[in-house]
Amino acid sequence: MAKFLLIFLLLAILSLAGADGVLSPYYYLESCPLAEEIVRHTVEGALYQDPRIAAGLLRLHFHDCFVLGCDASVLLDDADGIVSEKNAVPNKNSLRGFEVIDFIKALLEEACPLTVSCADILAIAARDAVHLRGGPTWDVYLGRKDSLKAASISTTNQMIPAPNSSLEMLISNFKDHGLDIVDLVSLSGSHTIGRSRCVSFKDRIYGLPLNEEYDERRSIFFHILRSICPESGGDDKVVPLDSRTSRRFDNLYYINLLRGEGLLHSDNALASEEDAEESVLSLVWAYAEDQELFFQHYTESIIKMGNINVLTGIEGEVRHNCRFVNSYYH
Ligand code: HEM
Ligand SMILES: *[C@@H]1O[C@H](CO)[C@@H](O)[C@H](O)[C@H]1NC(C)=O
Repeated sequence: MAKFLLIFLLLAILSLAGADGVLSPYYYLESCPLAEEIVRHTVEGALYQDPRIAAGLLRLHFHDCFVLGCDASVLLDDADGIVSEKNAVPNKNSLRGFEVIDFIKALLEEACPLTVSCADILAIAARDAVHLRGGPTWDVYLGRKDSLKAASISTTNQMIPAPNSSLEMLISNFKDHGLDIVDLVSLSGSHTIGRSRCVSFKDRIYGLPLNEEYDERRSIFFHILRSICPESGGDDKVVPLDSRTSRRFDNLYYINLLRGEGLLHSDNALASEEDAEESVLSLVWAYAEDQELFFQHYTESIIKMGNINVLTGIEGEVRHNCRFVNSYYH
């Protein structure tokens, strides 16, 4: 009897800690019980100073997971043998929040040295950013290890979908990452917060003559965008991705799409009739009508995204400094 109990306890502990290759919400329960609280407090403090940091942190997790998997490769700086992904087209002059991650990592190295991975910090910070902006919350599955390398610039350019992608290209890019149409439409709802530089959508607002190709409402929207983003220059000026409630994580992004007021070509592609991918448009309608449904699908999809090609066990390492692999210091 005692023997059975012991085996049972052992199994329970093993499953709590997460077996190799499987993440678990309890991964740091013993090794760093305050980990999530430390991340949460730091994100909260950072948002207090700059609310847009929420968007920056969420996007970092996405750009991490879509390039080689959720392994913190996005955080590596240029160093011997490493060409930073930060210099790739979708990232350069665009990704934000690196200093917040550095700060969290420094606190965690004080509390529990070499224990909490940078990839896990990105996943927890993304969850907290969404929740603190009024979005849903969820249990983050943990136990990712950090990569020993970065992807090449060309791989990075290729893996992250471009803002001028057609619906077909978006669907196939997501499929390459093991994500389906529900994931594409719900995760695009991340654009309910944050901003885009003019350079990311300028083709669109200067591509076609106003009033001819667009209905009246859209032409007003384009006029406003043109007034902020000049035809030449001003590439780094920024415009909210959700023109109605850019600081709130809500479902107004989808309502904007149905009015033709998504900012990026890739946003509008989800709701444009020319593309007419029936199931995509019906999801946009469903989320526009039911925020709870959006939150529920979003939660499932971002957990799925957080599982892409994770390194576990003895694959990878826990970095001491998120910007460099540990061997850099030897
Ligand atoms: C569906 C394909 C997607 C495309 C083509 C895309 C593209 C873009 C572009 C071009 C920007 C503006 C960047 C700039 O001009 O500096 C942006 C911003 C943003 N993206 Fe996406 N994105 C996509 C999906 C996602 C996903 C899946 C997430 C999160 C899970 C996400 C989160 C964000 C956030 C939060 C911002 C605002 C960042 C800030 O204010 O600093 N995006 N995206
Ligand atoms: C998107 O823009 C890039 C850079 O301007 C261009 O090379 C590419 O052909 C465009 N793709 C589509 C689908 O329009």
